[in-house]
Amino acid sequence: MTKRTIAEPYKIKAVEPIKVTTPEYRAKCMAEAGYNTFLLRSEDVTIDLLTDSGTTAMSDRQWAGMMLGDEAYAGSRNFYHLEQAINEIYGFKYVVPTHQGRAAEHITSQLRIQPGQYVPMNMYFTTTREHVERAGGIFFDCIIDEAHDTSSKHPFKGNVDIAKLDRLVAEKGAEAIAYLSIAPCVNMAGGQPFSMANLREVSAWGERYGIPIIFDATRALENCYFIQQREEGYADRSIREIFKELMSYGEGCTMSSKKDNLVNIGGFLATNNDEFFLRAKEMVVVFEGLHTYGGMSGRDMEALARGIEEMVEDAHIASRVRQVEYLGQRLIDAGVPIVEPVGGHAVFIDARGFLPDMPQDHFPAQTLAAALYVDSGVRSMERGIVSAGRDPETGEHRHPKLELVRLTIPRRVYTNLHMDVVAESCEALLQQRDSIAGLKMVYEPEKLRFFQARFEPLA
Ligand code: F0G
Repeated sequence: MTKRTIAEPYKIKAVEPIKVTTPEYRAKCMAEAGYNTFLLRSEDVTIDLLTDSGTTAMSDRQWAGMMLGDEAYAGSRNFYHLEQAINEIYGFKYVVPTHQGRAAEHITSQLRIQPGQYVPMNMYFTTTREHVERAGGIFFDCIIDEAHDTSSKHPFKGNVDIAKLDRLVAEKGAEAIAYLSIAPCVNMAGGQPFSMANLREVSAWGERYGIPIIFDATRALENCYFIQQREEGYADRSIREIFKELMSYGEGCTMSSKKDNLVNIGGFLATNNDEFFLRAKEMVVVFEGLHTYGGMSGRDMEALARGIEEMVEDAHIASRVRQVEYLGQRLIDAGVPIVEPVGGHAVFIDARGFLPDMPQDHFPAQTLAAALYVDSGVRSMERGIVSAGRDPETGEHRHPKLELVRLTIPRRVYTNLHMDVVAESCEALLQQRDSIAGLKMVYEPEKLRFFQARFEPLA
């Protein structure tokens, strides 16, 4: 028997109407936005798959918690609830709240990197690498080669290649490595997980050289679902147990709560390291706010504490990841080239495969994202040459192997009929791909250029 359908483990209590627009209207909107989907107004978007970040639908329990916000400047009871949820579920002793993930990355990078030190990461995330480089660190990609290959069906493409770490130590010495920044369900690789077996090896490797793991735990929960489904010995373990084991290999983590944690804003840094905690607490007051709110209101911390408790329910995570798989399968069936296996938070269209004749310098993924919006009002995001930015040494474009369009699914927001509309739009574009021309960049911000860059059609 094929896998049986799992229905959403919730029913809908409030709805938000969405605007339906015409292709002519959307063509005008896209031109005004400089062919950058980040610059569209949300009101003009029909199905918003720009990101799964902060776009979650909260539960009634979380909304009820919003009324229980203790907005004291210091020592809010909601902070203590948040701390308790993180202690119990993540297993870390100390918590420093921040307004979102990148603030935790800022503090971690500044405190843990000496200029000139390397920070190995399994691929990279834009803000994480930016903060490493701002602190004088050097990014080192230690992900397995399969992660850069859209045709590889490796079940754990997020795995770390220990041989790459060995080579770095042989060349530079262990003291040249600040820490290992390991991300579960690697965003830029297509939401690909690592295995617990690989993590165990990485942790043992780190212990041998005295190099700790600091997770970018943003999508760790989704990684646990794949471990439960794919790795021997985990099928009968609860997500909560797998999650606790996974986190136990880290000295700490930075977290963007806008993803796994089911809230619209928030983040934190958590650790078992006394010295790091002390210094992070000192630093957070300069950049974020007092260490018992770190840029969040009491009510936001309450919703976050409740979101952390809800996220580890097995039915929630199964339904979440299986919706992403559903969209992926629809696209595969339609012949649309995507990164396989399908990741935990998004389906990534392979823009090189979709537009095989377009040179990377004509921004195929950016082009495809713009065309998709004009076709159906579906908003997606470029994850390719624009996102990769320029090499800080040479000033040249980085040319990543992966040139992708990300269709990111918000948690608990859309139904599978929305997914069908998305799949049909991609299929329609595939049939007319010969008429899609590339773009040229006409405005380029110096940092994280993909957010605000502007383009014009080439033809
Ligand atoms: N790490 C990862 C893996 C992320 O995906 C993000 C954000 C961050 C860190 C930064 O967290 O936004 O709370 O400051 N990713 C969003 C996305 C923006 O759309 O993928 P933040």
